[in-house]
Amino acid sequence: MITDSTITRRSFISGGAALALTASSVVSAPRAAERRLRMALVGTGARGSFTWGQEVVEGYGDVVEIVGLCDINRKRVEAAKKLIGTNAPSFVDFDRMIKETRPDTVVVTTVDATHAHYIVRALELGCDVMTEKPLCTDEEQCLSILDAQRKSGKKVTVTFNARHDPEAKKVKELLMEKAVGDVISVDFHEYLDTSHGADYFRRWHRLKENSGTLLVHKASHHFDLANWWLDSTPVEVTAFGDLKFYGRNNSFRNTHCRVCPFKQQCKFYWDVTQNQSYVKLYVDCESEDGYLRDGCVWREDINIYDTMSVVVKYENGVFLNYTANTYLPFEGQAISINGRRGRLVGTEEPTPRCTI
Ligand SMILES: NC(=O)c1ccc[n+]([C@@H]2O[C@H](COP(=O)([O-])OP(=O)(O)OC[C@H]3O[C@@H](n4cnc5c(N)ncnc54)[C@H](O)[C@@H]3O)[C@@H](O)[C@H]2O)c1
Repeated sequence: MITDSTITRRSFISGGAALALTASSVVSAPRAAERRLRMALVGTGARGSFTWGQEVVEGYGDVVEIVGLCDINRKRVEAAKKLIGTNAPSFVDFDRMIKETRPDTVVVTTVDATHAHYIVRALELGCDVMTEKPLCTDEEQCLSILDAQRKSGKKVTVTFNARHDPEAKKVKELLMEKAVGDVISVDFHEYLDTSHGADYFRRWHRLKENSGTLLVHKASHHFDLANWWLDSTPVEVTAFGDLKFYGRNNSFRNTHCRVCPFKQQCKFYWDVTQNQSYVKLYVDCESEDGYLRDGCVWREDINIYDTMSVVVKYENGVFLNYTANTYLPFEGQAISINGRRGRLVGTEEPTPRCTI
């Protein structure tokens, strides 16, 4: 949850103006906050249970009431209910949850490619929506959300929390002050190591049909920042992606780590049972949907990219050069914003942590 000092309980209720940045298409109307906001949540995985569930109960319980929880996995929604510490009723049928609990706002924390379905349905049923990033994974879904939002007159908020990092806000401030003059180009490089990076290849994100690739799932944070900083929109995009390390690029593989005969020799062996919350949320719920939280990073069905490069031309003429790599020796980020009068340079280089 965001720890920005400007976030107040009332600003959460007024539509998350401080909690989350509202998409440009969204109509913003302050809500009188005499009573607690009735919030229902769909997608009770890690983000839904911890960032939204637990932290809302612990930090915002006086202004927000969780009235319903929903997931397609019957066992996971029950496990989440306990982890969150709420008595709200649980559902596997979304429409039933909305009809029986009458929420003001629906929080969507499901797998990326399913956001659009719940956003549209929640709008049709008369609710405002706060959705995790990315808003959705393709153009068709995006248009259906815009259409439903227009017809319903309700509000859709996309929670781009990265904008609330103090450094990100400082960059915006400096650019607004024209500290480096007119911006010519931006170099934005995301470096993921073999721990953080590998985790996307264990989970549902590994399939384009779920995540839209990491250029949507992960890079949506970065493109959102760039669009916001530059106060402009992309007009032309060229992109390259390749799978050079994970997936088919290994001589052995299995379904998941717990049963793997290559445990001893695989540098990516990961023991999910070391995390008790994950055991409750995922391992104990596998019988319902077969979802394996400790999936093998070498599975041959992996069809997202691990090496990505993008060039963007903005409406205001700025060029953005973006790369994301997911199997580097250590994490980091390097951002340079080149202006006519100077250059803003941001680097984030944690202690080198070579995990392979
Ligand atoms: N803002 C951030 O920094 C950040 C960080 C982590 C995750 N997220 C976002 O949160 C969302 C959830 O990610 P997560 O890490 O919690 O994943 P997760 O796998 O832990 O949880 C996803 C949940 O969605 C449920 N689900 C899948 N398909 C569904 C469907 N059709 N209907 C209802 N429920 C369905 C799954 O059963 C699971 O409980 C994603 O959209 C992700 O992009 C955002």
